[in-house]
Amino acid sequence: MPAGGRALLALLGLPALLALGCAADSDSAEGGPERRRPGPGPACPRDCGCTQEGVVDCGGIDLKEFPLLLPELTNHLSLQNNQIEEIFPEELARLYRLETLNLQNNRLTSKGLPEEAFEHLENLNYLYLANNKLTVAPKFLPNTLISADFAANYLTKIYGLTFGQKPNLRSVYLHNNKLSDAGLPDNMFNGSNNVEILIMSSNFLKYVPKNLPPALYKLHLQSNKLEKIPKGAFSELAGLRELYLQNNYLSNEGMDNETFWKLSSLEYLDLSSNNLSQIPNGLPRNIVLLHLEKNAIKVIDRDVLTQIKNLEYLLLHNNKLKARGIHPLAFQGLKKLHTVHLYNNMLERIPSGLPRRVKTLMILHNQISEINRNDFATTYFLEELNLSYNKITSPQIHREAFRKLRQLKSLDLSGNNLHTVPFGFPKNLQVLKLKENEISIIPKGTLSGMTKLRELYLSNNKLKVNSIYSRAWRELSSLQSLDMAGNQLTSIPLGLPESLEYLYLQNNKITTVSENAFESTPKIKGIYLRFNKIAVGALKESIFQNLKHLQVLDIEGNLEFSNSSKNKDDSEEEMEDEEEEEEEELR
Ligand SMILES: *[C@@H]1O[C@H](CO)[C@@H](O)[C@H](O)[C@H]1NC(C)=O
Ligand SMILES: *[C@@H]1O[C@H](CO)[C@@H](O)[C@H](O)[C@H]1NC(C)=O
Ligand SMILES: *[C@@H]1O[C@H](CO)[C@@H](O)[C@H](O)[C@H]1NC(C)=O
Ligand SMILES: *[C@@H]1O[C@H](CO)[C@@H](O)[C@H](O)[C@H]1NC(C)=O
Ligand SMILES: *[C@@H]1O[C@H](CO)[C@@H](O)[C@H](O)[C@H]1NC(C)=O
Repeated sequence: MPAGGRALLALLGLPALLALGCAADSDSAEGGPERRRPGPGPACPRDCGCTQEGVVDCGGIDLKEFPLLLPELTNHLSLQNNQIEEIFPEELARLYRLETLNLQNNRLTSKGLPEEAFEHLENLNYLYLANNKLTVAPKFLPNTLISADFAANYLTKIYGLTFGQKPNLRSVYLHNNKLSDAGLPDNMFNGSNNVEILIMSSNFLKYVPKNLPPALYKLHLQSNKLEKIPKGAFSELAGLRELYLQNNYLSNEGMDNETFWKLSSLEYLDLSSNNLSQIPNGLPRNIVLLHLEKNAIKVIDRDVLTQIKNLEYLLLHNNKLKARGIHPLAFQGLKKLHTVHLYNNMLERIPSGLPRRVKTLMILHNQISEINRNDFATTYFLEELNLSYNKITSPQIHREAFRKLRQLKSLDLSGNNLHTVPFGFPKNLQVLKLKENEISIIPKGTLSGMTKLRELYLSNNKLKVNSIYSRAWRELSSLQSLDMAGNQLTSIPLGLPESLEYLYLQNNKITTVSENAFESTPKIKGIYLRFNKIAVGALKESIFQNLKHLQVLDIEGNLEFSNSSKNKDDSEEEMEDEEEEEEEELR
């Protein structure tokens, strides 16, 4: 799952701006009919575009100063991406019809933005001041304001009438500033009851601000220094849908069982990268996506999750969970919960009482050493199971452990301690990953009946040609990709299925490619044989001649000449010995 928050930040507040930019551009064509010409009365400034409707676009023209004598009827003024350091208050005051003022990405300092500058702008709706050098917010902004963007400045202080007493105010962007608790007025949104979006991420707040406006639906407070959520801070926010609190110092002591309880519309709660040792009590029932990863959570009690009836995604990776810390009834009744991330914990076995409707279970990078008969006995809906990088050995996988997983499409057991391909894989698997184990044998029947398997990964194991049962590939009638790179194969496996398109065999010990090696695979598109011991000069063209779909034949890093007869003999002898041993084992 991507970290949407960060990507979002970049986009915040921009749509209105972009729309303005476009309109202005299309009107500013050289010599266009709307373009105001110098003459009597206020002129369109040099290099700017002006329309009769009052749109003035002076964006990105290297302006060092606020333009003089702008047309009085100007209602949308774009000055973004210049180098303006100060505003001339009398010039701005003349523009009393201004509805949109875009000063984003200039060099404005607070000294250059006089207090009275905004007093006369009685129609101002949109104010964009992001990416400047402001250190304190204006003491007063017009009460007609709808949206204000002060992101990426150096603000340390906000005043009562900066955002207060503005009944139309909907969105306030203050992320990437230097705001601490002391820099905020007591009641920052007093008389501004309609604010819906408040973005204050990446500041220095220790406490969640009090008296937040009751209409909020999006509140971003991530990447501050939050330790505490004061009592009642969220208790009036019945419309809040999205609450970002990740990357702070919140601990369970900094909140109580009522902190989130009144957030009856909350759907997205992000508490990741904090200092929680437990899941907070009293989470509201409508949360759909709950981020709790990167904390120090050790236990999941019986009653902390069960009331979140709408929960669909539960992200608990990078915590300190052990299976015995998870109450067997912790997920009871969570009928919508389909995605659970538990990777990078300390699970020593599969937790009991997994959510019954789980479809995606990510449980990689734990300490799991065994899979018991009933570990997955109730998770009928599982489609994707990732058990890679645990400590599972072949004898510790019960042959019937996967019997109920008829919907399972993807299984990953890479990076475990498997010595043989285990028995009992679900027949409907489409992707099976067994990379980076110690697998030296594919015992008879382990891959049989898997007619839907499209991708099989067996790279970086210890497989030899004769340690694979002879009809292993035959039944895999949908197999498109077979990865056996990094094994000990000495020739191309025989009897590959007709459906095969990609064959990865790099880093093996293949010395020869027999004439009929690809006879059974007419659809093959890619053959990767890099870093083997093939005498390339001896490869017959006829081997590949009939492969009409072949796009890639990679034989880099093999032997350029077929004259190393001594070495070749050696390796063949060695190979024969080993193969005899394997055959013994298989019987
Ligand atoms: C909020 O605004 C009202 C006027 O609408 C004023 O009387 C009150 O003192 C203000 N409260 C705070 C805490 O600023
Ligand atoms: C919080 O805990 C108190 C005391 O244990 C209890 O009375 C109250 O009902 C709890 N509130 C919620 C929302 O669980
Ligand atoms: C995390 O919480 C523990 C106590 O639960 C505390 O000892 C520790 O200092 C906290 N760490 C941070 C970074 O706040
Ligand atoms: C299992 O998770 C790892 C790590 O995220 C990933 O690389 C791998 O592709 C996953 N397996 C499957 C089958 O998706
Ligand atoms: C093979 O022949 C080439 C060219 O004659 C020679 O440079 C190379 O050393 C020979 N390799 C071996 C392993 O004898």
